[in-house]
Amino acid sequence: MTQQPLGIIVNGATGRMGYRQHLVRSLLALRDEGGFPLSDGSRRPIELYLVARNAEKLREVAEQHGVAKYTTDLDEALADPDFPIYFDALVTQLRVPAIRKAIAAGKAIYTEKPTAESYAEAVALADEAEAAGVKNGVVHDKLYLPGLLKLKRLIDSGFFGEILSVRGEFGYWVFEGDWQPAQRPSWNYRAEDGGGIIVDMFPHWNYVIENLFGKISSVYTEKRTHIPTRVDERGEPYTATADDAAYAIFDLDNGPIVQFNSSWTVRVNRDELVELHVDGTHGSAVVGLFGAKVQPRNATPKPTWNPDLPDANDYQSNWVEVPQNDAIENGFKLQWVEFLRYVVGDGEHHYDFRSGAAGMLLAEAALESDAQGRRVSLQEFALGNAADRAAAQVDAR
Ligand SMILES: NC(=O)c1ccc[n+]([C@@H]2O[C@H](COP(=O)([O-])OP(=O)(O)OC[C@H]3O[C@@H](n4cnc5c(N)ncnc54)[C@H](O)[C@@H]3O)[C@@H](O)[C@H]2O)c1
Repeated sequence: MTQQPLGIIVNGATGRMGYRQHLVRSLLALRDEGGFPLSDGSRRPIELYLVARNAEKLREVAEQHGVAKYTTDLDEALADPDFPIYFDALVTQLRVPAIRKAIAAGKAIYTEKPTAESYAEAVALADEAEAAGVKNGVVHDKLYLPGLLKLKRLIDSGFFGEILSVRGEFGYWVFEGDWQPAQRPSWNYRAEDGGGIIVDMFPHWNYVIENLFGKISSVYTEKRTHIPTRVDERGEPYTATADDAAYAIFDLDNGPIVQFNSSWTVRVNRDELVELHVDGTHGSAVVGLFGAKVQPRNATPKPTWNPDLPDANDYQSNWVEVPQNDAIENGFKLQWVEFLRYVVGDGEHHYDFRSGAAGMLLAEAALESDAQGRRVSLQEFALGNAADRAAAQVDAR
């Protein structure tokens, strides 16, 4: 028996993330494989409905990839009962109103992060989706990366003993846009348009840390706008109002301390664009998007500090690569499969709008920490925020 294709509306289909990661590498790949795999070994076909604002670009993308259905009118797509899933890869600022429409249309919803521009709005969105009974999920792609899957395996195997500390280093140089075009959209550098590296990356760090190491109890952050003027897509200079670097320390409930540098103003001298260095009592690991290398306790060299003599030890050679052992799959695609199976009642997907809101909580607490120049407790920040929301509701009555 041929299965009815599962219809997915892809909003922001021509954007950077919407096109490359979600459309081409995930959804079109799944479509071309005959659909997404189900637990019984069969595949459920999918059908796509593309939505974007630029009609010309949209038509080109749809024709290039053989997608019959596309529109610049979101309402038209949402009104189609053959497409019960809505996916959102719009710029962050437009996300909440679009998702509210999808909730009203009764769609199952999957979205890029962050789910909203503020924690209060992200909580409201989670409340609304739950009240409407629509299935919802948010992209947690980093957890599905080969390197982080290896790290999870190391943790689950007990390799580290007690994890003491984690140092995260994320970033690369984003060109200013004058003598070479910037490789990220200009809105990323304008706070008024939802930009900033804290809002962009801390939601990721939140789920990475909480799913691998433990619950974050407090955050201390210093943010900077190192490059004050950039040049946009039209060649016009603009003032960068958003943070392009953030230096953070996260305390975890269960003991480990996590330091994380996030920057679009660093030149890479690492194996990968993000690296986590984990030190435990029984071993250490350095993990990137793809690779992971380890140094167990019983193969640890014994350096001695002597600035008068060149150090003969080649420290890099003291590490062992962790083998892949599984086929490498795109992380976005792996999570798509999990979400789609959850929608059709064939498995679990744990990262919902509530989890998206937790990511925004960390981002806002970090911004608050920078503004106040002190460490901020996440629990206190969430309680204060809930009290503010309750007061706002009373005022509105
Ligand atoms: N998971 C990740 O690793 C990751 C990485 C980067 C960005 N993101 C998130 O993905 C989202 C999209 O980011 P991006 O870098 O692809 O941005 P982008 O600017 O390349 O794309 C955004 C999309 O929104 C559309 N859009 C912009 N203004 C619009 C308007 N006024 N009306 C209708 N549509 C409009 C654009 O046409 C485009 O399709 C953001 O929320 C961002 O936070 C996630």
